[in-house]
Amino acid sequence: MTFSFKSIASWSLVVLILMQFVPVKRINPPEVSVIQLPRLIKSSLKKACYDCHSNETRWDPIAYVAPASWLASTIVASGRNALNFSEGNLQDMTNNRIKKVISEGSAHQPLYSLWKPETHLTVKETETLLQWLSQCNAETRVSP
Ligand code: HEC
Repeated sequence: MTFSFKSIASWSLVVLILMQFVPVKRINPPEVSVIQLPRLIKSSLKKACYDCHSNETRWDPIAYVAPASWLASTIVASGRNALNFSEGNLQDMTNNRIKKVISEGSAHQPLYSLWKPETHLTVKETETLLQWLSQCNAETRVSP
């Protein structure tokens, strides 16, 4: 059986169109608890982490087109599941894994990092975040 380029192209188009009808969970649930964070810390986290770790995801236009939408919604669901700044508390910030992820930079989500260079943290932002997290860790350990 042979397929002409034209038939493959038109079937691909049909499949692509049908893909758009698969429902995708792409909602931003309301904030449950908003952690009080210093302004600079919050703005850095918002820039680099909130798309996957908060209820304030900035859905890209591509996130509305299947199959990219499937990938985006899966990553966001899994990211929110692992850590959600919109539903967390200050205790969550003592999680050493946050520090590790921040030190790793783009290695955490290479595809996203490549896609959205504007979300990269500057050296200064990284330093400030790591310093604040260490301080937060120390303070929380002292208090009961
Ligand atoms: C493009 C989406 C995306 C972005 C942006 C993102 N993450 Fe994640 N993150 C995930 C996903 C998905 C997981 C769960 C799977 C995994 O562990 O890789 C995760 C897991 C984590 C975990 C738990 C890891 C563990 O070892 O249990 C931490 C902590 C974390 N992210 C911190 C951050 C921080 C801090 C930022 C910002 C600097 C950030 N993430 C940015 C998608 C993202």
